[in-house]
Amino acid sequence: MNQGAVAIVTGASGGFGREFVKLLLRQADVSEVWAIARDEGKLKRLASESEGKVRIFSMDLSDRTCFAEIERQLKQSRLPVKYLINNAGFAKFCSYGDLSVGESLNMIDLNVGAVVALGLTCIPYMAKGGYAVCEVFPSALQADAPKADDEDLACAAGHQSGISLV
Ligand SMILES: NC(=O)c1ccc[n+]([C@@H]2O[C@H](COP(=O)([O-])OP(=O)(O)OC[C@H]3O[C@@H](n4cnc5c(N)ncnc54)[C@H](OP(=O)(O)O)[C@@H]3O)[C@@H](O)[C@H]2O)c1
Repeated sequence: MNQGAVAIVTGASGGFGREFVKLLLRQADVSEVWAIARDEGKLKRLASESEGKVRIFSMDLSDRTCFAEIERQLKQSRLPVKYLINNAGFAKFCSYGDLSVGESLNMIDLNVGAVVALGLTCIPYMAKGGYAVCEVFPSALQADAPKADDEDLACAAGHQSGISLV
């Protein structure tokens, strides 16, 4: 029997992430949306509006220990991951003097490290050809990232069958 699948949304307590959760709740093939962010109160409010389909994970994704907990929960749930929405992130637009080394590294831990770590954590639980990964990049990363043309994207999609580049 098909028991459905999990959709994971980071940065789900507000902004785009909260909207992604609402969209994914409408997907017939999604039985649980795992909403990740730090603010437990906001996550609880989101869950209370979702008829039991949202599981909340109050955690700081710049803290590397959280990925072991997500892995533990994935193992326990036995449901495949159908959607991974890497949305949590932030960027500070300011002069170098207004940004500490700690803040800069924290930005990298969240915007880059957590995306890699969560991807690696989820991939073993994704059914081949049956999942989608969406990256919502902070504008600061987009500005600095090499621009991929359509051919690059098609190539990446071809190599990583099953990943939708949104
Ligand atoms: N809004 C824009 O115009 C815009 C433009 C370009 C790109 N983006 C990117 O789009 C994404 C979403 O933007 P948004 O405007 O919806 O942002 P937002 O309203 O600030 O929401 C960010 C979300 O990320 C979570 N978050 C922040 N730090 C976290 C951490 N260390 N661990 C776990 N969760 C964390 C926040 O929740 P907690 O505080 O509860 O943890 C919140 O749910 C971000 O990556 C942003 O950089 C936004």
